[in-house]
Amino acid sequence: MKGLISISDLSKGEIFDVLKLALRLKDERSRGTFSEVLRHKTLGMIFEKPSTRTRTAFEVAIVELGGYPIYLNRNDLQLGRGETIADTARVLSKYLSGIILRATRHSTIVEMADYASIPVINALSDLEHPCQLLADLMTIYEKKGTLSGLKLAWIGDGNNVCNSAILACACFGMRIDVACPRGYEPNAEIVERGQKLSAVRIIRDPLEAASAADILYTDTWISMGDEAASAERLRAFSKYRVDEKVLDRANDDAIVLHCLPAHRGQEITDEVMDGPHSVVFVQAENRLHAQKALLLTLPL
Ligand code: CP
Ligand code: NVA
Repeated sequence: MKGLISISDLSKGEIFDVLKLALRLKDERSRGTFSEVLRHKTLGMIFEKPSTRTRTAFEVAIVELGGYPIYLNRNDLQLGRGETIADTARVLSKYLSGIILRATRHSTIVEMADYASIPVINALSDLEHPCQLLADLMTIYEKKGTLSGLKLAWIGDGNNVCNSAILACACFGMRIDVACPRGYEPNAEIVERGQKLSAVRIIRDPLEAASAADILYTDTWISMGDEAASAERLRAFSKYRVDEKVLDRANDDAIVLHCLPAHRGQEITDEVMDGPHSVVFVQAENRLHAQKALLLTLPL
C-alpha cells in the first residue's frame, strides 16, 4: 500500500493490523510512552477545507512520533495561482516524506497520488473519508469486541463518510442499512461494490434502518461545500434525525457514532449525543491513535 486514498486500499488484515497498533499506541500514550520513529521526517498537510479533528490529530500524531508537520493552506501555495497538481506533487516529493491532503474534489487527491513518489493520504474528499473510518472501526472494536456479525444503521446524508462506511462494513461483513431521502443516496458504484461483499441496503425509513442495529451513525445534513443548498437540505432531511425514537429501535447496547462536527438539533439531538449510548468523543479521540498507526504503517 503506497498511501491511503480509499478505505478499500486496505485489506481486512491490514485494517486489523492498523487497529491493533492504534490500540497499543493509545495505551502507551496513556502511560506517557512515545516512540520517535518519524525523526527527521517532514509531512506536508494541504487543506482546501477547514478541519478541527483531522488536522489537529495528524499534527499531534506527527509531533509525538518525532516528525515535523507543515500545514499548507492551498492558497498559500502556488497551487492557488495555477501551478498544476502534477508539478506540485513532483516538487513536494523531493522535500517531504508524505502528503496529507483534504480536497474539494476526490480527483485532486488521485492526481496528487499519481504524480507523487511519496505516500498521499486522503484527509477527506467529496467521495471518501478513510481516516475517519479507521477511527470508527477502532471505536466499534473497542466497544463491541468484534467487527463481524454487527449491523450498522446510517441515518442521513449518503455522503463521503457514508461511502467509506459502506466499504468498511463490506470489508468486515457487517450489515449496513442506509436510510436517506431520495436524491441523497451514497455513490452508486460504491454501493454496488459493497453489495458484492455484504448486505448493503438503501432505504427511506430511519426507524426501519435503526431496527436491531448495533451501531447508529449519522453526519451533518450540510457537508462542507453544500452550504448553498442549505434550505433544501434542511427540508429533505428533517425526518432523518437520530433522536430517542430512532435509538429505541436499536439494540439495547447500541452505540451512537458521529464523525463530528455535529449540528445539534439537526441530525442528532442533544439527548442522544450526550446520552449513555453515545461514544462520539471516544471516536474523536481515536482519530489521533488511528492516524498515528496509519503513519507507522505507510512507507514514509
Ligand atoms: N470528522 C472530521 O474529519 O472532522 P474535521 O473536519 O474537524 O477534521
Ligand atoms: N460530511 C462532512 C464530514 C465532515 C468531517 C463534510 O464533508 O463536511
